[in-house]
Amino acid sequence: MAGLAVNVDHIATIRQARKGVYPDPVAAAVLAELAGADGIVVHLRKDRRHIHDRDVRILRKTVQTKLILEMASTSEMLGIALDIKPDLVTLVPEKRAELTTEGGLDLVIHKTSIAETVGTLQNSGIPVSIFIDPDPEQIKIAHQTDAKMVEIHTGVFCDATTPTKRKHAFSKIVDAVKLANKLRMGVNAGHGICYNTIKAFKGLIEIDEFSIGHSIVSRAALVGMERAVKEMISRVKEL
Ligand code: PXP
Repeated sequence: MAGLAVNVDHIATIRQARKGVYPDPVAAAVLAELAGADGIVVHLRKDRRHIHDRDVRILRKTVQTKLILEMASTSEMLGIALDIKPDLVTLVPEKRAELTTEGGLDLVIHKTSIAETVGTLQNSGIPVSIFIDPDPEQIKIAHQTDAKMVEIHTGVFCDATTPTKRKHAFSKIVDAVKLANKLRMGVNAGHGICYNTIKAFKGLIEIDEFSIGHSIVSRAALVGMERAVKEMISRVKEL
């Protein structure tokens, strides 16, 4: 059965709207874990627009399940990861002007530098996942970098506006998940998944874990964090 890792960046986004101290992503992580989350995800961005260094350092001490650090492959982030030692690093692309991560890492372009970062992290005992589009070429290159896992970008499927586009995008996800599994890589999936789109993943048993943030935090604003996480877990359990 797949797990659920809860991304708490959006709690920090609310905090940063007033540049204050609440709501605290650390408190949200505690509630998510009490509700049964299998992991907590944070993306420490170069511009620190939501999650701050302080959050990651405290979460390292408080998270009881596993702490997943999303980061760009830069020397600054590498230093932080080697110091904090998250349970998993997910390498993501980062563009300054983007609203959120747009698309996966392009390994055709960045293979050499990404392979170096994967090597440095995994040699110090931190497994690495690479966030990529559902494209067989990207998966094959991810495998060549020796990364333990890939995270398949599900955003195009989740945002598709017509049944034809949705079907096409989902078939790419299915092929990508199955190829990564055949190459004996762990497979996570995430971006844009909500309480409706999660249902499409029924039967795709090769997915180890879903990484979900925005839809859970949005629902949490209305019904509370624990209930929002529990409701997503029950959807994941039905897959
Ligand atoms: N996975 C990755 C690599 C991401 O960058 C994000 C967004 O922070 C997510 C998953 C979660 O996406 P969402 O917030 O749309 O659920």
